[in-house]
Amino acid sequence: MQVNKIGAAMGAEIVGIDLSKPLDVADVQGVLDAFHAHQVIAIRDQNLTPGQLVTFSRHLGPLEDQLNARYTIPEHPEVLVLSNDMKDGKPVGLIDGGDYWHSDSSHRDKPSLATILHAKQNPKVGGDTQFANMYLAYEKLPADLKARITGLKAVHAVSKLKNKRVKVSERRPDAKDHYEMQKAIPDQVWPMVRTHPATGKKALYVSERFTVGIEGLPEAEADEILDFLFDHQVKPEFVYTHKWKDGDLVIWDNRAVLHRGAGGYTYPDVRTMHRTVVAGDRPY
Ligand code: OGA
Ligand code: MN
Repeated sequence: MQVNKIGAAMGAEIVGIDLSKPLDVADVQGVLDAFHAHQVIAIRDQNLTPGQLVTFSRHLGPLEDQLNARYTIPEHPEVLVLSNDMKDGKPVGLIDGGDYWHSDSSHRDKPSLATILHAKQNPKVGGDTQFANMYLAYEKLPADLKARITGLKAVHAVSKLKNKRVKVSERRPDAKDHYEMQKAIPDQVWPMVRTHPATGKKALYVSERFTVGIEGLPEAEADEILDFLFDHQVKPEFVYTHKWKDGDLVIWDNRAVLHRGAGGYTYPDVRTMHRTVVAGDRPY
């Protein structure tokens, strides 16, 4: 197994490992070490069944239940299908997941540790996934702002209708009802600067998609800070854009990076991913 850096801001590829075969302790440790060192890893040339994807994913920890049960694989409920493909006039998977910068499930009581996407079909055009390094974004904050947000907590909400900075996608059927229902789900409050449990490093932990306020601050004051942070945290020098190759399996660390789907492809140009999520702990 060989690890090669692929991005200036973060990211590495791993070649020379076949995840469909049983892995030994050294293989798993090698993947984990690369994951902690590079935040985003692309393991090349894989061809995994949903069952093999689940078996591999469990090496990183227990898996989350997928929120969108409608688009999971029946025999493997841990695997969600992301796709713009259609069958009998109906979508076969979740369309337009992840269109704004976010960290997965920061709106839940246990935000995700890692997300794993396995490319099943890449579109001819577009479909990149972008990542922003929140260690770097934190490190490069002006000193006064670092001090200002240390100890503050931000409010994370799942419903897009609670967030004035995002729009509901028009391409997704019944999205409005979906987000209307989600308004009842309680918000979560997390430190704006979190400590990574494995590396001990500090990371900025807010995002345009889910962060809607700062605990204890009036809206105008919170907005001033949040608007600055949302702009700062995705500066080009913190971003790695992943251009998917056939067979890629990408793992990212939701405790250290933000991500978004860049879109830019249109049916019948199909993009299909299989997705699993490793469960995390409460940020501190
Ligand atoms: C996700 C996500 C983006 C993409 O799966 O959590 O945000 O590029 N995906 O598919
Ligand atoms: Mn996501």
